[in-house]
Formats: sequence, C-alpha cells, structure tokens
Amino acid sequence: MNNIAILDPLWGDNGKGGWTHKFSPQFDWVVKCAGGNNCGHTLYYMDKKYVHHLVPSINFEESDAKGFISCNTVIDLQAMYDEIIDLEKSFKGVGSRLYVDVNAHVVTESHKTEDREANKHIGTTGKGIGPCYRDKINRSGTRIKDLFNNNDVKKLKEIGVTFTTFSALYDNFMKSKLLFEGSQGILLDIDHGTYPYVTSSQTNLASIVASGFANKHLLPNKVFGVAKCYATRVGNGPFPSELMNDVGEKLRELGKEYGATTGRPRRVGWLDIPLLNYSCRVSGITNLIFTKFDVLNNFDDLHVVTHYKLGEQFVSRIDDLDIIKNKTVNDLSLEKVSKWNDASNIQQLKSFFNIVDKYVDVPVEYISFGTKKEDFKKIG
Ligand code: IMO
Ligand code: MG
Repeated sequence: MNNIAILDPLWGDNGKGGWTHKFSPQFDWVVKCAGGNNCGHTLYYMDKKYVHHLVPSINFEESDAKGFISCNTVIDLQAMYDEIIDLEKSFKGVGSRLYVDVNAHVVTESHKTEDREANKHIGTTGKGIGPCYRDKINRSGTRIKDLFNNNDVKKLKEIGVTFTTFSALYDNFMKSKLLFEGSQGILLDIDHGTYPYVTSSQTNLASIVASGFANKHLLPNKVFGVAKCYATRVGNGPFPSELMNDVGEKLRELGKEYGATTGRPRRVGWLDIPLLNYSCRVSGITNLIFTKFDVLNNFDDLHVVTHYKLGEQFVSRIDDLDIIKNKTVNDLSLEKVSKWNDASNIQQLKSFFNIVDKYVDVPVEYISFGTKKEDFKKIG
C-alpha cells in the first residue's frame, strides 16, 4: 500500500483505531495529526482489550511501525506518560517507538479545569482540548520545546520517547510508508462540522498538511472513511437520525456504545447517507469501510436514512449542515435493511450494500464484523 489516511466521516468512534491496528504492519509510521487524549480507540489483541488515546493505534505485537505525534496535536504530558506505562506492561519498548514533535502544544491543569467548567453545554470530554487550542491560536500557549527541563518531559524521555521535529524526520518520512490515523470525525471538524458542537481542531486532511506533510509524495493517496452500519454520537449537538426509544436502547446495548474516553452512553441512530455524502466531499475520503455488522446479527429493525425532505424535494446530498439543526428522524426518508443472521456471510448483507451503492458517492472497500483478524474483509 502507498501512504493512506484513515478518517471517520461522522462523529468519531466508528472503528478507525481498529483498522489502523490491522493495517499498521504494512507501514513504517503511524502518524497522529490532530486532537489529544480526547480520542479513545478500542483495540483488541486476540481477545484482550486495550484503549489508546494519545498513542497511535499501532499493533505493537505484530508490526515494527513507529508512531509520530505531530505539532498539530495537543498533549497532556502526564496522561501520555500514564498511557505508555500501562501499554509497556504488555508490550515492551512502546515508549522508544514514539516520536513527538516539540512544536506540539501542552495541555495544562488550568485548560482541563476550564474545559470541565465552561464547556458543559458542548458536552466536551473535559480533557482541556478547546482551551489549549485557543491559547495556541491566541499565541499565548506553551509548546513542548518551551518546557525542556520540565519533569514531565524528562520522564517521557526516560521511557524512551524521542522529542523531535517534522523537519528532522523529513528524509525518513520521504523514504517510508505512512499511515495517517485520524482523530474524531468529520462532523466534529472545527470548520466543516456541526459548529459549535465540534472539537477544536481539523479532523480532515487539513490536519495532515498542518502537521508538515504537505509534499505530494507524503500526502496519502488513498483516504479511508470508517463508519458503522448505524450511527453514534457522544456530546451535544444535532443528530437527526437519533433514536430515543427502545430500538435505540437495544442498539446501544448490542454495540456496547459507551465512550472509550469518558464512559458516557453514546447517543445512537441510523446511518445517515446525506451526512455521509457531505463528509466525503469535505474530507477527501476516497473509499469507505463499514464496521460492526456482527453486533446486529438477527436484528430485525435496521434502517438507513437515504434522503432528507426539503420542502417538496428529497435529497441524498446536503450542502450546509444548518439544515440538520431542526430535523428529527420523522422528517427523513428511511429504507429498511433485510435482516441477517451471520454477518460474516457477505451475501446476507446485500440489502445494506444495495442501499449504500445506490446513494453513496464513494465506493466501499472493506468491512468488519468482529474484532478477530478474520473478521476484517476486503469486499471492493
Ligand atoms: P475518537 O478519535 C467521539 C466529542 C466530544 C464533544 C466534542 C468536543 O475516539 O473518535 P472535545 O473534548 O474534543 O473538546 O469535545 O467532540 N469528541 C469525540 N467524540 N470520538 C472522539 O474521538 C471524540 N473526541 C471528542 O464528545 O461532543
Ligand atoms: Mg473513539
């Protein structure tokens, strides 16, 4: 594979970490270009579950890939240390495989306190992300390079972490295969998401360019968008296909839809094709991956939103997210998906893919229906 990016076209938590984990043995570097420990990636080594936040979703057992955390991220140094120490219990040498750009900004205690107190209406993760990015843009932030004798930086160096710059690694990057692991989802993007109910960074390819990877030989030539066969959102903000009924409860329980970072119950609803089409346009997504079919084995009530009713018109593409502010599932047109009882049998998923093929602008290349190796399949 050439360089690729793995993004999330919706509100995050759709499995981009799992796919990064799966693909990482084919790459030299897994690069994180935005956000901080607001990310939560649930990964499985055989049956054992791990959650990564700041550490890229590298398969530390089966790949030699190194992780680069770019200048466009924001870093809680203590949280990073704790995360590495925890991973080191299972995988020796995690710290020495991580490289951090010293131009990244540091999340402080006061950023976290402010986030928890002032951003409740957004439903943020409370990790200090917004206040830290605000200080960066205001030119009053603190970069890692401003803290070189700081104890937290020293502790990270002692466990093998390399503090460097994009430029220092440029020649290496030019010779390497790069996997860019996205953070959050496109509908949480500061420019293209459901503002103000968004995160404070870019979640599309802009974050990769902002991190220095602007040379055309470094940019990904394939951009995957990972989505579940239904939809979820944590935090506040519009979610037109949200189900606040028994069906929603059932989906949440079947899919174990609880936030990997905050433990909050995720809001759940139907996959929304007009939103998916919108996201692919503003993010550069070239190929889709659908996940979590296994959790809906024998589920007889799956629907997909195919159109929005706008006056007399039915559209499967929208140009402005303001349209979704006052929509509820009652204003949308849905198609029912035929039930399957074995998600590993692709033939049984035909009805879902017929709908997707008909209305989605981007082709589907892979699906997953579980957490084991054999549950990740190429279909396109
Ligand atoms: P991964 O990478 C899902 C949401 C929060 C809130 C909004 C702003 O695991 O997909 P923030 O703390 O970033 O200022 O919160 O964004 N949010 C996420 N939702 N997955 C994530 O990351 C998220 N990171 C932030 O719930 O609505
Ligand atoms: Mg997540």
